[in-house]
Amino acid sequence: MNNHQEALDVHASAELLIDHKTVQHAYDELAKSITRDLEDKNPLVMAVMNGGLVPMGQLLPRMHFSLRIDYLHATRYRDKTTGHDLQWKQYPQRSLENEHVLVIDDIFDEGHTLAAIVAYCEGCSPASIRTAVLAEKDVDRSVTLKPDYVGLQLPNKYVYGCGLDYKGYWRNLPAIYAVKEN
Ligand code: IMP
Ligand code: MG
Repeated sequence: MNNHQEALDVHASAELLIDHKTVQHAYDELAKSITRDLEDKNPLVMAVMNGGLVPMGQLLPRMHFSLRIDYLHATRYRDKTTGHDLQWKQYPQRSLENEHVLVIDDIFDEGHTLAAIVAYCEGCSPASIRTAVLAEKDVDRSVTLKPDYVGLQLPNKYVYGCGLDYKGYWRNLPAIYAVKEN
């Protein structure tokens, strides 16, 4: 079956985990906390492509203070069961030196992606580095990093929508769905 047909089939039987209204409320609360900490800091706000694109687009208009944006593209080799290698497709364009950096991603799962991104950023001598995710999964982790801002708590299921994909599809959906487990 091709990915498109599979994505259609998966969605037809999926479970709605977090509805649109709840997601919007989570963005409101995230933006409030971020504003409290960063409104006077002239931050550099960075999306982790591709999943961080939607949370970034939702959070930016809720942050009514001066900031600049950038993006980076880093993705895990998810076909390996044990490897934690991060594949960098795009490093940030702007210098992070002396910047108050906020990194925005879709989800904190095992945490290796965000931990590696933070390690990279720390090597660029920022003034500070913070991380925000729309959602965090309830899993045991080996990484010590905790995101500074978390919008929603999710069970350990494969989810999609709000930036998260199922085989490249459904990042555009305004709610969060869980793939039905057989
Ligand atoms: P981590 O390194 O395990 O924390 O993986 C985080 C990255 O994996 C996220 O940025 C997502 O791109 C992706 N990911 C993790 N869990 C899911 C999921 O349930 N659905 C879609 N993508 C996911
Ligand atoms: Mg990702």
